Amino acid sequence: MVCVALGCEPSAGLDAGSDAPPSEDAFVRDAPLDTRADAGCTGRPGELVGERSIDRGDLPLLSWTGLDGEVALLDHHGPCAPAGRVIVLRQLAAWSGHSLWHAAHTADVVAMDDVVVIDLWAADEDAMPMRPASLHAELARYDAPPTALASDPDEQLGALAIAGIQLPIIVVVDARTLHVERTLFDPRAGDLPHSIRVVQAHLRGEPEPRRPEPELVDGRFTLDRWDLVQQLGAPFVPPPSPSNAYADDPAAATLGEHLFEDTTLSPAGVSCRTCHQPSRAFTDGLSLGRGVEEVTRNTPTVIGASAARWQFWDGRADTLWAQAAGPFENAREMGSSRLFVAHRVADTYRADYEAIFGPLPSLEDAVRFPPAGMPGEAAWEAMSAEDRDAVTRVFVNVAKAIEAYERTIVPVPGRLEAYASGSYDALTPGERDGLQAFVSVGCTQCHWGPLLSNGAFFAVDMPGVGEGEAGDRGRIAALAPLTSSELRAQGPYSDDRSLVDPLAGLTMLPERTLGAFRTPTLRGLSQSGPYGHAGTFASLHDVTVHYAHIRMPHTRDPRVVGTLDPHLLGFEDFRIDAVTRFLELL
Ligand code: HEC
Ligand code: HEC
Repeated sequence: MVCVALGCEPSAGLDAGSDAPPSEDAFVRDAPLDTRADAGCTGRPGELVGERSIDRGDLPLLSWTGLDGEVALLDHHGPCAPAGRVIVLRQLAAWSGHSLWHAAHTADVVAMDDVVVIDLWAADEDAMPMRPASLHAELARYDAPPTALASDPDEQLGALAIAGIQLPIIVVVDARTLHVERTLFDPRAGDLPHSIRVVQAHLRGEPEPRRPEPELVDGRFTLDRWDLVQQLGAPFVPPPSPSNAYADDPAAATLGEHLFEDTTLSPAGVSCRTCHQPSRAFTDGLSLGRGVEEVTRNTPTVIGASAARWQFWDGRADTLWAQAAGPFENAREMGSSRLFVAHRVADTYRADYEAIFGPLPSLEDAVRFPPAGMPGEAAWEAMSAEDRDAVTRVFVNVAKAIEAYERTIVPVPGRLEAYASGSYDALTPGERDGLQAFVSVGCTQCHWGPLLSNGAFFAVDMPGVGEGEAGDRGRIAALAPLTSSELRAQGPYSDDRSLVDPLAGLTMLPERTLGAFRTPTLRGLSQSGPYGHAGTFASLHDVTVHYAHIRMPHTRDPRVVGTLDPHLLGFEDFRIDAVTRFLELL
């Protein structure tokens, strides 16, 4: 019987305290030791005995869209196959750090005798339903390709799981009967070959093989978990920014730094640095940002922003330069406008600007170029199209210079990096316990890599500003402003529009993006409170308690919007202090 039939609860973290030696995966759900294993040869492939019901662990005849056409479970059905031939179905998501580890370590599994591996990608790196066209990109993640690869946007194996299950879901199926022999949820990856061998031995009527002694790093991390730790400590390198030809121009970065801190670019005397203060990890210490007025979201750090595929909590900008243009023309933040900024640049930065971007337009004629104005305002709309374009170009170049500066704001390697490179004493035992708990309760599903972020969008029940209908809808509301903006990677002010449009094929966002926000980086965390997209958590302890109790019945905060992501599990109270201690290190 599989879990669905038993209605068993997820027991997150049952195995979390010690990563090893694992007695047996806590996430293993055993199918009954089935008597039909010797049902023998039923005849031709595709002929299956009896009625099929997923409750009894008989997989329906599922099929998926693969790289080259249909991938069907039936294609691998071998009624007369030797006992022990198994199909290993893995449901993965490209946003999940643990799924990526499994994909990158597929060689061990495909090399096993009598094992067919079918990988089903449910979602892409942005947590959007996986499109077959995107599968090619996933292939690059493998050390050895699986037997078959397909997209599974409907998460068909989800029926075998329950809410609150960690990815990947792995289902081991007898190829002769298509009967589920075992279901595992995020097994310690190094254990997967062993778990498969146990099933094979059972099907062959052989004694259960002994679990190999796992190799441990620092006496606590299995090799797969250690890989995740090493990725957290990996050096950070900003990816190229092809839509900005000046992104890596040092002169542009120097100019950008001046622009970032210049309060005269706003009539209200607000600069980027008013809210993004270097001494506070480029945040402001407030729940909600405050410029001309208070805004409705918490000020995020700028550290590592150069690597984000989407900017802002809801991803309503797709380049860092387009992001930088936003605050100037936001009435609550800087209360400025592109005309105002262009005039200030001509007054203050003419030589530096022209050395990088070429001649400024002549802005002297106050009738053609009023002192202030932006799209939607009468003064702006009265200008000729060419003059508007000339001013917008100056404005965009200001934003591109700021991006060049922001690309230099990167995480500073600290004790975590020292630990990950093998200096175990760099962390106190308490911090190491915390790191271990952080990985094993599944935080690294989303907070992975050198920024501790997957850059994708999830609803994690953190309160926003406004209640009910007036609540903050997050990601789902961000597509319209993004597609209608001329300031984006595919717009007229991009320096390379040959790029694949990140918005291609996106006409609407799925319901699960309601109340979803981008996984923030955890860099600079100890200095960047309060936390959450509306700064409703005063301390890291409060955030950890939120995650620990996330599945407990509680009165829902009326400011929470959307449906909690199914991949969050909660964990036991005794881990709260350890996880908090790790977060405080960042
Ligand atoms: C009034 C305070 C304030 C000012 C001034 C301000 N910001 Fe921000 N910044 C914020 C807030 C709040 C957000 C998040 C807004 C949202 O997601 O809707 C943000 C988001 C960002 C982000 C995105 C980070 C991420 O993780 O998504 C970057 C980068 C950034 N600001 C840079 C700048 C630059 C450059 C300037 C100056 C041109 C600037 N900010 C001016 C408050 C401010
Ligand atoms: C399914 C993805 C996911 C998982 C798993 C996850 N997080 Fe998050 N995390 C997010 C998202 C999304 C946000 C922003 C949510 C918001 O503000 O609405 C966030 C926000 C945070 C913040 C606030 C950061 C800031 O600058 O405001 C902290 C701290 C944090 N998470 C820690 C953790 C810890 C610890 C765990 C494990 C117990 C964890 N997260 C698991 C996605 C995830």
